[in-house]
Amino acid sequence: MKNKQLVFDYTNLISDAIGEHHGLSLDEVQEYQRHADEFHKALKTDRETERIGFYNLPFHKKTTRMIKEFTKRNYNKFENFVVLGIGGSALGNIALLSSLKHPYYNLLTGKERGGYPRIFVLDNIDPELVVDFLDVINPKKTLFNVISKSGSTAETAAQLLIITDILRKKLGRKFTRNVVITTDPEQGDLRSIAEENAIQSFDIPPNVGGRFSVLSSVGLLTAAFANININQLLRGAEDMLKRCSSPDLMKNPAYLNAVFHYLMDTRRRKNISVMMSYSSPLYYWADWYRQLWAESLGKNTDLQGDPVSVGQTPVKALGVTDQHSQVQLYTEGPNDKVFTFLTVENYRRDIKIPKFKQQYSSLEYLSGNKLSKLFDSEMRATEYALAQQQRPSCRVVFPQINEYTVGQFIMMYQIQTAFAGLLYNVDAFNQPGVEAGKRATYGLLGREGYADEAKKIQAKEKKRLKLE
Ligand code: PA5
Repeated sequence: MKNKQLVFDYTNLISDAIGEHHGLSLDEVQEYQRHADEFHKALKTDRETERIGFYNLPFHKKTTRMIKEFTKRNYNKFENFVVLGIGGSALGNIALLSSLKHPYYNLLTGKERGGYPRIFVLDNIDPELVVDFLDVINPKKTLFNVISKSGSTAETAAQLLIITDILRKKLGRKFTRNVVITTDPEQGDLRSIAEENAIQSFDIPPNVGGRFSVLSSVGLLTAAFANININQLLRGAEDMLKRCSSPDLMKNPAYLNAVFHYLMDTRRRKNISVMMSYSSPLYYWADWYRQLWAESLGKNTDLQGDPVSVGQTPVKALGVTDQHSQVQLYTEGPNDKVFTFLTVENYRRDIKIPKFKQQYSSLEYLSGNKLSKLFDSEMRATEYALAQQQRPSCRVVFPQINEYTVGQFIMMYQIQTAFAGLLYNVDAFNQPGVEAGKRATYGLLGREGYADEAKKIQAKEKKRLKLE
């Protein structure tokens, strides 16, 4: 494998490929160099003054050491490792597992997993799901990693209460051995619970928000319990950080992709960003991206406090599956989307398509080819079909899927999002809309101090329009 770096290919975003009505000229992009210089300085200051923490996560050697030591002592003591968390406390973990482990990891035998536990991420509280989940694990043989930056998210708190109650009944005071807490080092009830019950805990740095936290203990502990090489993951992130240390748009893939997406949205009316993974293992990174792009950029107030209404809607899609579901709309429906294909150059495993005994003209062209060739051709064909209809797309090419390239991808998209926040002139690091929903939930469940929210919702609910 010659090139180990992620490649950003923007051929089909450019007017030469898809026409000037929907494509961008490089001159339009380069007009933004002046802004890039200014934003680069601002982000550098934010990083140096520690206002923004994700940049420095690859250098938190002490945390990495602690995680490795804890994993080494405990990985073979449990049959299951279960993450209880939601949003930024779960999506990166799911994507790490699905991209870097066997797709049926939990169905492998303990020996095939090298003695490491099965891993589950329970990021929903649908009661049927939660109760059904309890059918497939033995809580006594399970380590529960409760992750919440705020330490107060209702969903995670409810899961914690359910699980600790079960554990207490089965294990008495020893229940704490089956729980790990990952939260803010100082604040929140989860921190107090960890301290008061002497539960093993890991810190999420206060300056690292949920959706930017996968390279903190949030993602790393899960990764370590799945025997993922966290050093290589962090090395990939560090190398991408170096690559993005230049303010030059034509050298910095994160800034360049941010400018392309911003201009596509604001000048070419592509207010939907579809991340279409032509890789099954990478699909859940599109899910992670959805949260990152949506929560960071979807805002109603700009940095000066003036009202705005901005944000590109991120959508996830899977090649080839969605060719038979979404691509009709993508090629012929409204031209309001910009596409990103996630693609892989060298597959970890491949298979040759064999010949059938009798000859059929409809099958012959397939025989003798590797499945990867068909897969890759389908990606190129979809890209071509979109370009023929003046639909903009770009590729993010993984030389191979491994810890090093996944680490690069994470860092690239986090930097891209921080930079896009400045292009949109919004705070990419807050989420007042999510917080509003959290407060309303507290009100409905009668939490002290949130009665007003409950009253407002109840008044509205009296006026529901229903057919019964
Ligand atoms: O990005 C964010 O900050 C949010 O999406 C959070 O990750 C999500 O709301 C969960 O919050 P917490 O980790 O505080 O439980």
